[in-house]
Amino acid sequence: MTLDDAVLTRHTVKAFEAGQTLPQEKIDTLLNVLRNSPSSVNSQPWHFVVASTPEGREAMAKATGGAFVYNEPKVLNASHVIALCMRSDLDDAHLQKVLEQEQKDGRFVAEGAKAGQDKGRRSYVDMHRFELRDIPQWMEKQVYLALGGLLLGAAMLNIDATPMEGFDARALDHALGLREKGLTSVVLVSLGVRSENDFNAALPKSRLPRDEIFTFI
Ligand SMILES: Cc1cc2nc3c(=O)[nH]c(=O)nc-3n(C[C@H](O)[C@H](O)[C@H](O)COP(=O)(O)O)c2cc1C
Repeated sequence: MTLDDAVLTRHTVKAFEAGQTLPQEKIDTLLNVLRNSPSSVNSQPWHFVVASTPEGREAMAKATGGAFVYNEPKVLNASHVIALCMRSDLDDAHLQKVLEQEQKDGRFVAEGAKAGQDKGRRSYVDMHRFELRDIPQWMEKQVYLALGGLLLGAAMLNIDATPMEGFDARALDHALGLREKGLTSVVLVSLGVRSENDFNAALPKSRLPRDEIFTFI
């Protein structure tokens, strides 16, 4: 699969074949994509809940009632459903945890590198907390970067996927016990094998023209 093929052939799957399980090896590759996703100042303000059992998918589907019921089969019939979550705050304990991990991973070779990294990261965090006052939006942007990587990764592995903002975040947070852990859900991705009822597979892709979206200078 070339990158061009992946971006042209991937589409949002509207119906999955129930009972199909994706190979663990491919799932592990996608989890690796998520874990290694870039984030501003390496803040990694995320957590990913992966449902691969009927019970797990049913827990996710608690968030696809009411107005979001059109997404319910995409959750229940998928092989895996990943809830991409963000932290509710970028607190001191998290910043310290990231710093210690960077040290463990051998990032601080030069003297003073650890203190410098900590100071630099905190200056960005302070800017977003006090001047821009957009810590939640900033964290959410990082989660959406991870979403992009996940969707492209799935396409490269020939895995069918559905990104979903159409779910009740409050219900999902409750079903997964996220808020007690300082987390909240942002977006869901179902992964699996598309069924013959996936009407989107036969439809052509639609994007605004190249001339309209690029400016070359
Ligand atoms: C963040 C995000 C949320 C989306 N939410 C839903 C959703 O809840 N249900 C759904 O069927 N499709 C959803 N979509 C799919 C989009 O409608 C789709 O990506 C867009 O129409 C382009 O089509 P394509 O993905 O097939 O190329 C979502 C896509 C993104 C990126």
